[in-house]
Amino acid sequence: MFSLNYISCFVLKTTKTILNIYTTKSRLHLSPHSCAVALYKMSKLKLYITRPDVPEKAIALLKEKFEVAMWTGSGPVPREDLLRGVRGCDALYCFLTDRIDQEVLDCAGESLRVVGTMSVGHDHVDVPVLKQRGVLLGITPDVLTDAVADLTLALLLATSRRLFEANRQITEGKWTAWAPFWMCGPGLKASTAGIVGFGRIGQEVARRLRPFKVAALLYSGRSDKPEAGELGATRVPLGDLLERSDFVIVTCALTPDTREMFNDALFSKMKRSAVFINVSRGGVVDQAALLRALQGGVILAAGLDVTTPEPLPPSHPLCSLPNCVLLPHIGSATHQARTDMAVLTARNILAAVEGRPLPAPAF
Ligand code: GLV
Repeated sequence: MFSLNYISCFVLKTTKTILNIYTTKSRLHLSPHSCAVALYKMSKLKLYITRPDVPEKAIALLKEKFEVAMWTGSGPVPREDLLRGVRGCDALYCFLTDRIDQEVLDCAGESLRVVGTMSVGHDHVDVPVLKQRGVLLGITPDVLTDAVADLTLALLLATSRRLFEANRQITEGKWTAWAPFWMCGPGLKASTAGIVGFGRIGQEVARRLRPFKVAALLYSGRSDKPEAGELGATRVPLGDLLERSDFVIVTCALTPDTREMFNDALFSKMKRSAVFINVSRGGVVDQAALLRALQGGVILAAGLDVTTPEPLPPSHPLCSLPNCVLLPHIGSATHQARTDMAVLTARNILAAVEGRPLPAPAF
């Protein structure tokens, strides 16, 4: 089945190419060199991009090698258009809003060689299916680390120091007078911060926390990280981290092991005064359990850059909790980080079709 499809596709493409050259040459009396150029141009590879708003810098790189088609509507590409768009493509440029699974790969067909996602997280991509088909996957680590770590600190401070709640006191006319303990929250000085997922982003969060004079930095994970010494961070079992931390900060990837790991049992291990921050994926949290923990005073507050679903509807009960700060998944949203992510995605895709190692492979 595969080889018949593949052969017929190849024969069709080659015949189209030869016919085009033949008719063009006889009409215009072209030299063999011009024919070769025409052949090169016609044999450009096909790329589908699932959004129209990719920086020109990345598009220009890709156009050297690819005939570029893209979804031009607003918002994430609808499923039907994605399935139609990938047909016969050599490469796919996608985003964390696109589910890339068996069906997408089936529609793309045997020509698909690489998927480049403009994200570091790749839980939206069915990796086993890609591996089985020999399709490569490029991601965008490093270039977004500082932006996400900055945002994590911003969210941590916004949540603990109640910035949005305090701002609403003014805009809603509730600020009557200064009062000594009004709008107070926990400070970072002399606190214990626990980081769940001590990879690149977790480590940069730790680095940024030190100047705030935290007393202890804890992290959990399967093995000691060599960078921990320099950062003054100590590995402890997850249970200890939850029991001891004033701030629990989640930066781990969403995997089958971490899916909904923050459940009633884990929230009940945390201090009643704990502030919970999640900048990884909404899927690592059992959101109903988090809601119960926030409503029932099991923990003090939560700051979330990621939720389930995204977008979170404004009618969701989390939206009306004063002790929950919500952001619309903007961790890497600096101009520089997003441009660098776009260029790295383009470089991943180009490397794959040129037979070079990907600058940032997912596996
Ligand atoms: C953002 O969440 C990313 O994975 O890049």
